[in-house]
Amino acid sequence: MSLLLVAPERDMKSLKESLLEVDPNLDVDLWPAVPNKKRVQFAVTWNHPRHLLGDFPNLKAVSSLGAGADHLLGDPDLPESVSICRVVAPSLVRQMQEYVLAAVLNFQRHTLRYLRQKERSEWNVHPNIPAGELPVGVMGLGAIGGPVAEFLAQSGYPVLGWSRTPGELEGVRCLSGRESLEAFAEQTRVLVCLLPLTAETEGILDLELMRRLVRPACLVNVARGEHLVEEDLVYTLDKGWLAGAFLDVFGEEPLPEKHPFWNRERIMVTPHAASITPPDEAAAQIVENYKRVLSGMAPLHGVDREKGY
Ligand code: NDP
Ligand code: OXD
Repeated sequence: MSLLLVAPERDMKSLKESLLEVDPNLDVDLWPAVPNKKRVQFAVTWNHPRHLLGDFPNLKAVSSLGAGADHLLGDPDLPESVSICRVVAPSLVRQMQEYVLAAVLNFQRHTLRYLRQKERSEWNVHPNIPAGELPVGVMGLGAIGGPVAEFLAQSGYPVLGWSRTPGELEGVRCLSGRESLEAFAEQTRVLVCLLPLTAETEGILDLELMRRLVRPACLVNVARGEHLVEEDLVYTLDKGWLAGAFLDVFGEEPLPEKHPFWNRERIMVTPHAASITPPDEAAAQIVENYKRVLSGMAPLHGVDREKGY
């Protein structure tokens, strides 16, 4: 039996090496070189080509190489019998805490405004916003969103959290369900999106939500580009309701060269780099899940097809 790695845009050789360091006896295929499709029982993918996953008759489970599994759930060729799981490496959480705190601090200390002023040799002082007066709202309180919300609370911000089902987090006022979304938005000035992409969350960062934020607000989208209605962001920036946006994810990645966000003032663009899974941490989890699946156990960090995350 073999473990297949499929990630056309990524260098998977280092992941293969890390997997073999964890267990030198593994048989690892690097797509597209698959000598025997019948031997593949476990696959690890990131943006795999369409129709590929229906092609392995003995496939038991597929792991996303990242934390999000939307690229797998949206694949109609993935047989129902195949379990889906994902990698949630501990350092992903720490990296995301750093990214989000940096975005909040940059908003709080007017970094984007001062960069613009520097280009124009302008000397204008903007009052610093005390952390205790800057409410941050985190949408999605899961494996990454939960610790991000707690970290922001520990850093001195009033933090609200929003999830599908009720939750409890230290220092965070947790709301849940669609019925509380309005109240959540109306008490949030920096909106952080850490939701999975599902039928319910697609397009959730829209005009209706952004116009309710405490003004002038800031958006930090580190989840998926499809959460954001791009024209609504531009509209709210133009209106002055939003003063800035920190975007790490986009509907089309890499962000096309001609995309208006590149040259737009008050929008910071990073190339889906908020949190990157280190191959050695991913390898340990993948090998553990591979062995669990081969011995008939459910994989860790399983994804629920019904819930969509
Ligand atoms: P989890 O699956 O662990 O948590 C998801 C959270 O979102 C849960 O709190 C869940 O609620 C909540 N949620 C799901 N659907 C809804 C809904 N309809 N309404 C309200 N809340 C909802 O996800 P992670 O924390 O591991 O990751 C979140 C996302 O972050 C990933 O899916 C990925 O897209 C993105 N990501 C981005 C990275 C980057 O570098 N930019 C890196 C890693 C992840 P409940 O608690 O009730 O289940
Ligand atoms: C993701 C990741 O899911 O990079 O975006 O892990």
